[in-house]
Amino acid sequence: MGTDSAATMALDTGQLVLRGGRPLRGTVTLRGAKNSLPKLMVAAALTDAPCVLRNVSGIADVQIVTELLRALGGEVEEVEPGAIRISTANLQPMERFVLRDFSGRSRIPILLCGPLLARFGVAPVPSLGGCRIGNRPVDFHIAALQQLGATLHEQAGASHLSAERLTGNKIQLDFPSVGATEQVILSAVRADGVTELSNAAVEPEIMDLIMVLQKMGAVISVDVDRTITIVGVKRLRGFDHEAVPDRLEAASWACAAVATCGRIMVRNARQADMMTFLNRFRQIGGDFSVTPDGIEFWREREKLRSTALQTDVYPGFSTDYQQPFVIALTQAEGVSIVHETVYEDRFGYVEALNRMGARIQLYRECLGGLSCRFGKRNYKHSAVIVGPTALHGAEIHIPDLRAGFSYVIAALAATGESTLTGTHLIQRGYENIIEKLTALGADIVAAS
Ligand code: EPU
Repeated sequence: MGTDSAATMALDTGQLVLRGGRPLRGTVTLRGAKNSLPKLMVAAALTDAPCVLRNVSGIADVQIVTELLRALGGEVEEVEPGAIRISTANLQPMERFVLRDFSGRSRIPILLCGPLLARFGVAPVPSLGGCRIGNRPVDFHIAALQQLGATLHEQAGASHLSAERLTGNKIQLDFPSVGATEQVILSAVRADGVTELSNAAVEPEIMDLIMVLQKMGAVISVDVDRTITIVGVKRLRGFDHEAVPDRLEAASWACAAVATCGRIMVRNARQADMMTFLNRFRQIGGDFSVTPDGIEFWREREKLRSTALQTDVYPGFSTDYQQPFVIALTQAEGVSIVHETVYEDRFGYVEALNRMGARIQLYRECLGGLSCRFGKRNYKHSAVIVGPTALHGAEIHIPDLRAGFSYVIAALAATGESTLTGTHLIQRGYENIIEKLTALGADIVAAS
């Protein structure tokens, strides 16, 4: 799955040294989305039948779910480059020691609750990992599972859910959480009766999950008002599916192209999944050309324009576009405003950017748009970016995935040398980053 190259291994423990000032030019190829692949692997646990997943990349969450399924008695094998076969015919209930080994490493294990309840009537509740970008609680997940009939047991600091059978229900999410929407879908699909989930998230990666489940025999419909209706079925069959390409990675390369005044062809990028991003990208002075192979990105104007935007759930401007886009905005003329409405604490990375020469100030107020649930509380969730600013190299420790890639872009747009540590976090969502950047002409080396 492309994870064993020497350069990528160096990312595990090492650091990156980058010298900026060269425009990135060339082609990169996307594989399956980080926010889709692991969930499709979880869907395979809903059936005894073998499943084939294609367009699989070697990112960390795929590795973690592979190890987790194997630890539970499942089989995951590579059948051809980029394609895996998953069989969970011999799946076992999750023991506490298995859970312990996976707790804190990823946000995916909690999505196994539905499949485990359907197959064994019991599922432990893991403590979750993932990027540290706010509180990231799991209350919606637990409340939804309880509404489907599961009982929560808590003893000695550990909790598990049990249910003889889950039963469909009407559920409304307080916020259109991606994970909670997936939780409900993966749990209701084998429940008795119908579940109607309102205020659901409808990200392209969730549609990918629904398409897989439809291939498996599920009956799931999505209404224009973001209500998802799931008719429970007794049995699901296997699937053969090519995962949706990673739109978030595509947007990251687009930002890298404008920030370094380069030109990057992103093979497999899909216009339909990222129209909101493309509009905003063009508005600030980037341009792109959509071809049958993908999308090519470049800077159309010498001077980028500033903008005001807020992040939102799909089809809004994704919170995961925010960080690389802010790097591009440091090069725009005038004052830009970015209001983060999905996470309360996703601007931690700007302190290091300011050390590189950026002029970004954070505010507790909801700036530049509607008020959100983080307003009038103590969260610095609005950023004012004054540009253009010349960036210079710095030593930076990476706090989370998207911040990590954003620092890479900033370092490549800067003059001088930058050293990034904590580079393993980039692997959560970007495969073969060193090889890809080197092929685009970046001056980047992995050091240990
Ligand atoms: N939330 C709750 N309670 C819950 C669940 C969520 O309050 O039980 C809140 C969160 O704290 C957050 C908001 O709801 O403020 C949205 O969280 P969501 O559940 O949508 O996020 P997630 O499912 O944990 C996925 C992606 C994230 C992406 C978000 C939003 C995966 C593995 N992760 O996380 O991806 O930012 O949806 O689109 O799918 C990334 O790619 O860099 C990344 C962090």
